[in-house]
Amino acid sequence: MVGVKILIVSLLVGISAYHFFSSETISYGMVYGKRVLVTGSSTGIGEQIAYQFAQMGAHLVLTARREQRLQEVTRKCLELGASSADYVVSDMTNLTSAQEVAQIATKKLGSLDYLVLNHIGGSGSFGTFQGDMDSLLSSMTVNFLSYVQLTATALSALKQSNGSIVIMSSLSGRFGAPFTTSYCAAKFALEGFYSSLRRECSLQKNNISVTVAVLGFIDTENAVKKVGDKVTMTASPKEDCAKEVVKAAVLRQSELFYPYWSIKPLVLLKDWAPEFMGSLLDKFYVLENIK
Ligand SMILES: NC(=O)c1ccc[n+]([C@@H]2O[C@H](COP(=O)([O-])OP(=O)(O)OC[C@H]3O[C@@H](n4cnc5c(N)ncnc54)[C@H](OP(=O)(O)O)[C@@H]3O)[C@@H](O)[C@H]2O)c1
Repeated sequence: MVGVKILIVSLLVGISAYHFFSSETISYGMVYGKRVLVTGSSTGIGEQIAYQFAQMGAHLVLTARREQRLQEVTRKCLELGASSADYVVSDMTNLTSAQEVAQIATKKLGSLDYLVLNHIGGSGSFGTFQGDMDSLLSSMTVNFLSYVQLTATALSALKQSNGSIVIMSSLSGRFGAPFTTSYCAAKFALEGFYSSLRRECSLQKNNISVTVAVLGFIDTENAVKKVGDKVTMTASPKEDCAKEVVKAAVLRQSELFYPYWSIKPLVLLKDWAPEFMGSLLDKFYVLENIK
């Protein structure tokens, strides 16, 4: 136990020094006029990511299922300063629709600089796995396969523009968190696919950047509704989360950990002391509220 504590303290000192000396900033000119597709942008983190790009003068295409919300978010993007903003209504349970979204967005924008893959759906309720294969298939389609389909369709445009792919992952994409089997499976699949793709892009020198955002609990309406009474973690603000995601994307960083101090130490710890990490996280679950 003493060994683990010394390990944690050394870890925290090391990463704080690294984090302190490596902080960079982004400017308006780095984003102005860039062409951006944000999926799952009718609400939550995706909506906030759209506003961040809008404030810096990007051209935006938004997508989700609810047209009225997309209209409202598009209008606000224009008010905030987007060079242009448009939307495509689409349901990512259908891979043909995912393909069409990438085609339509690329056509509307003329090409693509940022593909922000953020939507989440179909992963069932927060609870124990009871053999529900439909929920697993639905989660893998919406939360993994549609991401790959969008990427496959947008890849040649991104190669031409030296563009960037941004993937929204989670601590549940790095560590097998309980009660979220379908969600975890999709996030682990994303991490595997996109880390492999990143290496391919690097070896082939085609200059596409792949940023994976590893997030903790964020205060979006849906996340709070789904898990708010089941975990005792404090949710971080979606506005700040979106700001950090956009910054990491623009700086072409391969990974973002948000909030950094809650997530990065856990990611390091899970390989060195997985049992200890599991027992630390177990304390956050309110078991009597989980079925
Ligand atoms: N919030 C957190 O605590 C947290 C933690 C870790 C990681 N993340 C990740 O961050 C991302 C955003 O999370 P969030 O909390 O902002 O999610 P959210 O508020 O639930 O928003 C999800 C978005 O996806 C869209 N969507 C849902 N099902 C869809 C479907 N079948 N087809 C197309 N669009 C669909 C929703 O719009 P419509 O309903 O209009 O379709 C909405 O715009 C996700 O990838 C999530 O896994 C979030």
